[in-house]
Amino acid sequence: MSQSYSLIIHGGAGALEDLKYEASEAEFRKSIIAILAAGRQRLENGESALDVVEYCVNLLEDNPLYNAGKGSVLNENAQVEMDAALMNGSDLRAGAVTCVKNVKNPISLARQVLEQGDHVMLAGEGALEFAKFCQATLRPDEYFITPARLKQLAEAKAAGRMTLDHERIKPAQKLGTVGAVAQDLNGNLAAATSTGGLVNKRWGRVGDTPVVGAGVFADNETCGVSATGYGEQFLRTVFAKTISDFVYFKGMDAAAAATAGIQYLVAKVNGEGGVIVIDKAGRCSAAQSTSGLIHGWIELGGEAHCKLG
Ligand code: GLY
Repeated sequence: MSQSYSLIIHGGAGALEDLKYEASEAEFRKSIIAILAAGRQRLENGESALDVVEYCVNLLEDNPLYNAGKGSVLNENAQVEMDAALMNGSDLRAGAVTCVKNVKNPISLARQVLEQGDHVMLAGEGALEFAKFCQATLRPDEYFITPARLKQLAEAKAAGRMTLDHERIKPAQKLGTVGAVAQDLNGNLAAATSTGGLVNKRWGRVGDTPVVGAGVFADNETCGVSATGYGEQFLRTVFAKTISDFVYFKGMDAAAAATAGIQYLVAKVNGEGGVIVIDKAGRCSAAQSTSGLIHGWIELGGEAHCKLG
């Protein structure tokens, strides 16, 4: 073991007033700091970055404050359909699931896909069958659906819906997704992202989160990236890989690459969202084009920080 560790997590991007709509700032801060502390302990114990990002995202998925796992936003049919993916920076192994229902922790199912190794992404019914094969924890629909999400969907529909234009459904929508990036004591990077997607999205819609290179990317030679925001824009800009390319081809560090990535997103597609990054030197950074990005970080074993703006 040669070096320190770093960890950064996020709980979604959006307008700050939208974040307050769902819970108080204190609640978000408390949960971000608690998850960082739990992740720190594991990294100090020598656990791999891949294990730690899966673990941190599990905690975010289990907390109904966030749009992932329990508390996911609802699609146009008032159903929860979740996407998740994670990637290991030492060998570029990746696992993803999309349009999954009833899986308590989609990121852990994505991890099973990664470990199984034949495929990178499983979808819908096939993913659910694989979840049963893996004995993943399943929950009934009622577990995932919260009163706040039903209210949010009703507001989205009342506002004129088909929701890919999130401006029309403010103030109810946060561009939620959760994610984690870590560098372990061996210098390995990993990244994980999980989401319920967009409020009132079309049934069967796939966002950026499960797409390697769009919502998630990790390469030990460059950086780990987890994105949050309007998924279609992140897909069209191959967002997470673009940030990695800024490190690889332009020699940027985490801060420069995160900023350049968001500038590119805005310049090309007027994109809305945020990103967290750890570079190969363990430096943490975040950037966003929205007014809010719920996130927290521990850089090179230092103090834990939390920021909502
Ligand atoms: N970024 C999450 C989504 O658009 O589904």
